[in-house]
Amino acid sequence: MNTTAQKALAAWAPGFAPRVAVVLGSGWGGLTAHVQNPIRIPYAELQGFPAAGVAGHGGELWLGHIGVQAVAVMSGRKHGYETGAVDGMKLPLQVLQAMGCQILVQTNAAGSLRADLPPQSLMAIGDHLNLPQRSPLVGEAGSARFVNMVDAYDPGLLAHAHARAAEQGCKLHTGVYAWAFGPQFETPAEIRMLSLMGADAVGMSTVPETIIARHLGLRVLALSLITNMGAGMSQEHLSHAHTLSQAATASQSASALLAHIIGTLALD
Ligand code: HPA
Repeated sequence: MNTTAQKALAAWAPGFAPRVAVVLGSGWGGLTAHVQNPIRIPYAELQGFPAAGVAGHGGELWLGHIGVQAVAVMSGRKHGYETGAVDGMKLPLQVLQAMGCQILVQTNAAGSLRADLPPQSLMAIGDHLNLPQRSPLVGEAGSARFVNMVDAYDPGLLAHAHARAAEQGCKLHTGVYAWAFGPQFETPAEIRMLSLMGADAVGMSTVPETIIARHLGLRVLALSLITNMGAGMSQEHLSHAHTLSQAATASQSASALLAHIIGTLALD
């Protein structure tokens, strides 16, 4: 592929070949402080990259290094609830893969369904529930569209994340992430249902990107920052402002751990 966005990127950062693509969700903006010698490119300069539409989500691509790793960090993502389309991250991820990325690291903010996973906890996603049953691969041709979703969240990357967290004395849970389409929060009845279905956390993103990434052959690691208990599980009043304020509290330590995880990744 050689899209307009790719040509623009070649002009912004000639010869730069990122190996790890990172998507930052609410509360994870602190990771950009760990990008060394960054080149910051507004999405508006990259045709097909999402216009920033949600408070707390930037709209820039950061190219640079975290540790020895060449990274492309998307500060801000497109959500299904913004337009109804779930393939808004397809072109950006195709471009990053074509530039050389082998791994996609995703982050998000999520609500917890487990009493032992309180706000400020960190959870690595071990598997997901695609509740809306929507796919960014609709319209793709060929048998490659029938993507195998076993181990969609790479077991080797999960083990790596847990080992790095243990080194830093940081508790990292593992769990199942349920994609709720949003933008409204869940009802208490929906939260009880999700719990019965085997979900540990719920959020409005990440799943479409994981599907796109697996179709592109990227290995995926995803981390959720728990910002609240699911609706009806506590007295807190859910709002986007609440999500952002809770995320801000844990943001620095979460981002420091993530930088350590990325900076020590072993690549082929
Ligand atoms: N539900 C859905 N998405 C979320 C939540 C939640 O409780 N918290 C943060 N993102």
